[in-house]
Amino acid sequence: MAYYPLKRPPYARLPPMSSDERNRLWGGRFGSSPAEAFERLNASIPFDARLAPYDIRGSIAHATMLGERGILAPEESREIVRGLEAVLAEVEAGEFSWTLEDEDVHTAVERRLKELVGEVALRLHTGRSRNDQVALDLHLFAREAAGEVRDGVLEAMRALVEVAESNRDLVFPGYTHLQRAQPLLLSHHLLAHFEALKRDLRRLEAAREAAGVSPLGAAALGGTPHSVDPSSTAEKLGMQPFSNSLDAVSERDFVLDLLYACAVLGVHLSRLGEEWVLWTSSEFGFATLDDAYSSGSSIMPQKKNPDAYELMRGKTGRLIGDLNAVLVTLKGLSLGYSKDLQEDKEPLFDAVDAVRPMLTVLPGMLRTARFDRERILRAAGGFALATELADFLAARGVPFREAHRAVGGLVRRCEELGVPLEEVPGEQLVAAHPVLAELPRELLTPRGSVAIKKSPGSTSPQSVEAQLGTARRFLNASS
Ligand code: ARG
Repeated sequence: MAYYPLKRPPYARLPPMSSDERNRLWGGRFGSSPAEAFERLNASIPFDARLAPYDIRGSIAHATMLGERGILAPEESREIVRGLEAVLAEVEAGEFSWTLEDEDVHTAVERRLKELVGEVALRLHTGRSRNDQVALDLHLFAREAAGEVRDGVLEAMRALVEVAESNRDLVFPGYTHLQRAQPLLLSHHLLAHFEALKRDLRRLEAAREAAGVSPLGAAALGGTPHSVDPSSTAEKLGMQPFSNSLDAVSERDFVLDLLYACAVLGVHLSRLGEEWVLWTSSEFGFATLDDAYSSGSSIMPQKKNPDAYELMRGKTGRLIGDLNAVLVTLKGLSLGYSKDLQEDKEPLFDAVDAVRPMLTVLPGMLRTARFDRERILRAAGGFALATELADFLAARGVPFREAHRAVGGLVRRCEELGVPLEEVPGEQLVAAHPVLAELPRELLTPRGSVAIKKSPGSTSPQSVEAQLGTARRFLNASS
């Protein structure tokens, strides 16, 4: 079933609606057929068909429970379950014939069940409503999708650690305001992204847990006079039962949780993508993507574009929009099912469909990219070392503000002389501040600058080595 959340409904276009022989679930009360225009607006089948495997699994659990509780005769329950398994096989084989005449996935499955097992199919809906049924389907989808997105994040984290491990000694310019600030180890920078993804992992795990509640047995909103056993259906599906039937059919927090987790993850991937777009530009020239992960231009032969990273930035807009769409849909709804809730599905599918391909492409892109070590090292030095001088003075008892002013003057002087800080003549150092006479020149190198850091979690080689160890242990403990 793992393949399913990635798939769009197994048809591109639905045939037009025709006869009055519709499989409507609610025809009894109505004297005439609905207008086609209304039916098209009302139908969710074009997008909820992908819930079919979850819908059928839920129905199998429900029918089994009905048999166990004596609400259906044992042979009726068996017959229905056998039929549902046949429908599931058709869906998975891509042989199920979808039609717009089925209002939604629930109607479609029941219609096919009836074609296969006859009138007994009509007993399946005992003690159940589409309200608890659709909520269950979406819980099952969200639970599986959250698990798969989580696995994708874990793989990206593995790639980050591998690249960090194989570039442990590379000193890189760290930026603030996108201006060179202080040297960092590249591995420190990559591990910063690792930390962000680690928090994403937790959010996805929480979203998966929130989706692990079965609403089945809540019926339309207030429960049912049939002696159903929600704990038993929940257990069959590996879920927890709901506590309050009205809440069970009304809440979509689990959708919000997953959408939020995807949106924040998207923001992280977008920031990482933005960096790679910069790093791979001629202006930075820090890294080159493997040809397998770049595209060219139809007009400019020299171009090699970082499209995948741009799309991580680009698609994140819709992830944020998807979360927003469901939040706005929910905010005005009184408790109990309203048809507005049908609008919960497309944003969720869209978010999962947007985020998964990003995660699929990222590990390979990270692993195959090449760094221009010399260019990076050159960019890591220069005035990015100025803070080291100020900190050196402060460590020798010079008040930091005074040290800052002295080094600022030295930077200005270097600019006037046209020399990089690493090569500043000794007399200029002393002129800036007499205590700089004691400066070990090693400190005025990118490597010296990272090596002198002492604070925990810093960019010093020892600290980064410890961070790598923790990251490795985390990955080994996560599967
Ligand atoms: N297609 C509907 C949805 O997606 C199924 C639930 C319909 N329930 C109802 N009371 N009309 O929400």
